[in-house]
Amino acid sequence: MSEKTIKIGIVGFGTVGSGVAKILLEDADHIEARTGIKLELAKVVDIDTKKARPVKLPDGILTDDLNSLLNDKDIQIGIELIGGTTIAKDIQLKMLAAGKDVITANKALLAEHGNELYAAAHKADRCIAFEASCAGGIPIISAIRTGLAANRIKAIYGILNGTCNYILSNMTKKDESFKAALKQAQNKGYAEADPTLDINGQDSAHKLAILSSIAFSCEILPGDIFVEGIENIDIVDIRYGREMGYTLKLLAIGQKTDDGKIFLRVHPSFISGDNALARVDGPFNAVSIFGHAVGQTMFYGRGAGMMPTASAVVADIIEVAMGNSKKLFKHLSLEPKNKVAGIIGKIDELVSRFYIKLRVSDKPGVFAQICTILANHEISLSGVLQHEEHNSHNIVPAIVITHLTQQKKNTAALADLAKLEIVKEKPVCIRIVDIPEDSD
Ligand code: HSE
Repeated sequence: MSEKTIKIGIVGFGTVGSGVAKILLEDADHIEARTGIKLELAKVVDIDTKKARPVKLPDGILTDDLNSLLNDKDIQIGIELIGGTTIAKDIQLKMLAAGKDVITANKALLAEHGNELYAAAHKADRCIAFEASCAGGIPIISAIRTGLAANRIKAIYGILNGTCNYILSNMTKKDESFKAALKQAQNKGYAEADPTLDINGQDSAHKLAILSSIAFSCEILPGDIFVEGIENIDIVDIRYGREMGYTLKLLAIGQKTDDGKIFLRVHPSFISGDNALARVDGPFNAVSIFGHAVGQTMFYGRGAGMMPTASAVVADIIEVAMGNSKKLFKHLSLEPKNKVAGIIGKIDELVSRFYIKLRVSDKPGVFAQICTILANHEISLSGVLQHEEHNSHNIVPAIVITHLTQQKKNTAALADLAKLEIVKEKPVCIRIVDIPEDSD
């Protein structure tokens, strides 16, 4: 026997919208048995009402009229699943103004305009829930907000883009070029037809902005995040890294230092092949969170796709229907007033180890010149690697691994190295990230 019935309207009958409708139509009984709440799909709005979808809606539910959802007072929850940052924003604002709680998977919109939307939600005494915006089916937002609520979060290390992880896994395991691996990702339907936001790191940055604002309780904007994508990664560097025990991943990293600074970055990262994140292959996502009380935690699962993302949306529906989302939303602390000036650390101040590849003339004194420049910038070497290569140009690769040094010292050293007569191509530099095994 249900304690109450909650009526739901969806805007956007695409892949995720179809998945949400499917769960609401097929699984309402077991959700009611678990929660005491009966979920009822009342309206699905889409500009295309004719296209074939993988789920058949009961008659009278599908419409192209947004107002029929907005004006239906019985619909308590509006779900925006159209994506984009313009029309979607307008729809969310209209749903809030019409007195509906809003659920969305739209990471780009929240990362860029969250402020305005959260303010509108507070004003309307409603909430916005967005579990599906980060890491698809992994309940990572719920984990940070409730499961790990006792913790001061010290760091987040995430593989947040399945397309990039699929590409880098294929480059690593199948020795494919970036181009071939990207094509495979597109053929498999992981990458978008225009995969720019995936491979340039922006999709991961949007997700990191959301996760880190919740974890560190302050407004984080995409502009606060240093971003480098994987589009220039050469298979040769993956091979050298592997030889030295490293696996290449596109990591989204949020760290809070003991003096309270927050460093946020998305970039290709060499991590130890023994780390659990190194074993996350294919289109999967994973997030490792370090809390002061819990230590290290690890969350793993599908970061995209119809049913995993729908799973997260329906989790939000249940939390909103039970009243939990609204209570938590009140205390999210994502507004600019919670952002202390200077709290965001600059990438130049970051301390890291670096993999540097130089293509150099094969003649006496080359390593001496490289070492002199690094020493001039107080950079200590942790390892070097050079293989014999016989080619008519007499140019060979020289790989250097540094000890911990400041980013700005490394940048200055790279500029000096590039000026050397013996260095024949622009140096390649990839950060090495030493993920702690626990929080100590
Ligand atoms: N395109 C994303 C990915 C999923 O490849 O992980 C949606 O953010």
